[in-house]
Amino acid sequence: MVDEDMIVRSPDLALPRPSDRFVRAPDVLVMTCGGALSIRVVSYGEFVIAKHVETVRAILYITLVPSTMPELASKLNLSEHLVGVILVSLFAKRVLISVNATEPRKEIPSIPFRRICLGISGAIHVLGTIQLVATLRTSVNVELEVIATSNARRFIDPNVLEYLGARVWSDSHAMRDGIRVPHIWLGEQSDLLLIAPASANTLQRLASGACSDLLSLVAATTSAPIVIAPSMHPAMWNYKPVARNVSVLREAGMFLLEPSIGYSVSQQCMEPGACAVSAANITDILPWLGRNIVRTRT
Ligand SMILES: Cc1cc2nc3c(=O)[nH]c(=O)nc-3n(C[C@H](O)[C@H](O)[C@H](O)COP(=O)(O)O)c2cc1C
Repeated sequence: MVDEDMIVRSPDLALPRPSDRFVRAPDVLVMTCGGALSIRVVSYGEFVIAKHVETVRAILYITLVPSTMPELASKLNLSEHLVGVILVSLFAKRVLISVNATEPRKEIPSIPFRRICLGISGAIHVLGTIQLVATLRTSVNVELEVIATSNARRFIDPNVLEYLGARVWSDSHAMRDGIRVPHIWLGEQSDLLLIAPASANTLQRLASGACSDLLSLVAATTSAPIVIAPSMHPAMWNYKPVARNVSVLREAGMFLLEPSIGYSVSQQCMEPGACAVSAANITDILPWLGRNIVRTRT
């Protein structure tokens, strides 16, 4: 959608109150080329603003943090009226969202887990681990030990996770940092074993009680709750032997996150039914998990 008069079309809207705070919507992408400004609101569409380009560009930059109309007018050395007209236009187009100044700012809810052991396996959604680790380390500040299967390491470089502050383990026989038996130490010190994404192959190892690699060893020895986010093509998920493994794991007291929509590499598109829980979903559900799960395995 192209709306070249966006700014001048909305002057009749009521101006914001001086205490109203505006912040750029998270799903907005702003691009400039030559004298044109292109704003894409992912959930809405794309349009170009032909007037007041520099002012709008500055407003979109400043509103990366919540700002009021008087603050913007003073920073830009413009009248509050002009800034107000632009603000309501951007607000009407969902480019800006309003944050009421009197409401307390929303925090990411604290999670009751302090030490999470995150198991990752060779499913394509393992790419989301980078975002998940970054969020867990920076926003909720948990201690993270990551166990990467050898196939997970074919998709992502463990160094990236170490740069983000997680320690990455793979070899069950490698002593490090004074820890002689990694699977016992990892199992004992974790509040939660989260396996995300769990490939069909990893489900099989867990369901069979294989204890053949570090991740399946930790699952067998820990007394922490185990939450598993399977991730695979729908055909694999519906394959009877895989479904059987899933029920074995449920019966063993583990918590299985159910399928959602995920990216299919073979189809090159988002596919409903492909089992995947995104990194964002996982951070959303951790507070809930903390309140509602206890280890039921004896
Ligand atoms: C490009 C590509 C994507 C894959 N995606 C998945 C997947 O999403 N889920 C899955 O269960 N297996 C997937 N596989 C197959 C696994 O990588 C394979 O079964 C592997 O043995 C898993 O090992 P792990 O569970 O020990 O990490 C994929 C393989 C390739 C080559």
